[in-house]
Amino acid sequence: MQHEKVLILDFGGQYNQLIARRVREHNVYCEVKSYKTPIEEIRAMDLKGIIFTGGPKSVYLEDSPRTGKEIFELGVPILGICYGAQFLVYGLGGEIGAASEEAAAEFGRTDCTFDTKSQIFRGLKKKSVVWMSHNDYIKTLPQGFRSVARSGKCPYGAIENPEKKFYGTQFHPEVNHTEQGFDMLGNFLYNVCGCKGDWTMKSYAETATRELRAKIGGGKALLALSGGVDSSVACKLLANAIGSQLTCIFVDHGLMRKNEGDEVEAAFADSGVNFVRVNAGERFLSKLAGVTEPESKRKIIGEEFIRVFEEEAKKIGKVDFLVQGTIYPDVIESGLGDAAVIKSHHNVGGLPDYVDFKEIIEPLRLLFKDEVRELGTALGLDDKLVWRQPFPGPGLAIRIIGGITPEKVRILQEADAIFREEIAAAKLDRDINQYFAVLTNMRSVGVMGDGRTYDYTLALRGVSTTDFMTADFSRIPYDVLEKVSNRIVNEVKHINRIVYDVTSKPPATIEWE
Ligand code: XMP
Repeated sequence: MQHEKVLILDFGGQYNQLIARRVREHNVYCEVKSYKTPIEEIRAMDLKGIIFTGGPKSVYLEDSPRTGKEIFELGVPILGICYGAQFLVYGLGGEIGAASEEAAAEFGRTDCTFDTKSQIFRGLKKKSVVWMSHNDYIKTLPQGFRSVARSGKCPYGAIENPEKKFYGTQFHPEVNHTEQGFDMLGNFLYNVCGCKGDWTMKSYAETATRELRAKIGGGKALLALSGGVDSSVACKLLANAIGSQLTCIFVDHGLMRKNEGDEVEAAFADSGVNFVRVNAGERFLSKLAGVTEPESKRKIIGEEFIRVFEEEAKKIGKVDFLVQGTIYPDVIESGLGDAAVIKSHHNVGGLPDYVDFKEIIEPLRLLFKDEVRELGTALGLDDKLVWRQPFPGPGLAIRIIGGITPEKVRILQEADAIFREEIAAAKLDRDINQYFAVLTNMRSVGVMGDGRTYDYTLALRGVSTTDFMTADFSRIPYDVLEKVSNRIVNEVKHINRIVYDVTSKPPATIEWE
């Protein structure tokens, strides 16, 4: 099935991915491409609409991003956002003013009044807050345009040429601070572009299954399953499509959280694929014995992972396809879909170069993380795997400070499981983006019953973040922390003190090592 398609033409704005996500949330498929994309390619896309993103430049600069005029002659509706709106005006013969000429620059929350007769504001409140972030402003309109929104400083807060189906907003409808922004984008997609909204994960699952079958035919495919969301969803999709032609190798390095290895096995062992679980815990722990330096731990685990994977892959022999769990943000970030991106990183380390295969398949490469989760649910994948929080490839090795012993792994697994149980019981598990326990290498004196103890300090960490590049520590209620603390010191031997990590990233990182 051919989906309705909208193009997000990227002019270098910081919100390009956000626009794409919003469009997808309206059940319309879209792709983000560079403004340099050749017009023939754009024409061949058979588009319902085009959205020009914002961008940091001024339209009059020599090196500012521009397209050819042909884009305006495609007969396809266009919505320009911020720089995109200015470029629309400029490209069609209007005039842009620099904010230094007049005090027209606006940043942040701004009150705006809309003409609700315009298709993009139909059904909305006449006044609400929008998010502005511009220096330049629209000074004179091209022929056929009129103003349909105004703010205090901006007579052309939004503009339209309904005949040509060209719209522009000086503000950013894609950010949450623009109160009715989501509905405005919906209006553009549905009222102006005439979309019906045929992009759902159920329809994606059907299309992808059919296409994977056609592509793979009777061939063999190999997948490295980590138990993370992406590889689990990819595995489930492939399992449905090609069943026993797929082999997935799950390397259990013994540093997973409590019961996690078994949960992954339970989710896939009966799914019709050839499921290989390699219990390599002892092998990893013996390589790690006595190693305390964080980077050395990571390196040893990454390398060992590759060795184990290779050994298992060799037993299978030649495969036709290697499946990777690359998702859309990776594609956008590595060059706006210009070239096929082959993600060289498994979440533990690189994959071996010389596993013998013909081609790479990336069945999730069009999806955002939240869509991957939705697809997982549509495919019937267990909630535990669908909503699994990020877990670092090196696993608990980097949450045990100092040397790693089987006993320390067990202590941390038990304590971490209690923490997770209580967070889930308090219904905080989908609010806190990542939370876990760290076994510090510090021991201190405590008292239990009538006796002195000299045992480990456990640290709890919980963060809220959107991109994991920066993070704030979570304000977990004291009563929840109290319960976690009580349970851990009572139920887990060798822990007699609990601390909560109240540092943000930066300056700390999320993991301790
Ligand atoms: P940091 O500690 O750098 O972590 O603030 C940011 C996010 O990345 C995860 N992380 C990893 N994920 N392999 C991974 O797949 C790794 O080696 C690794 N190290 C850290 C971490 O859990 C957090 O979500």
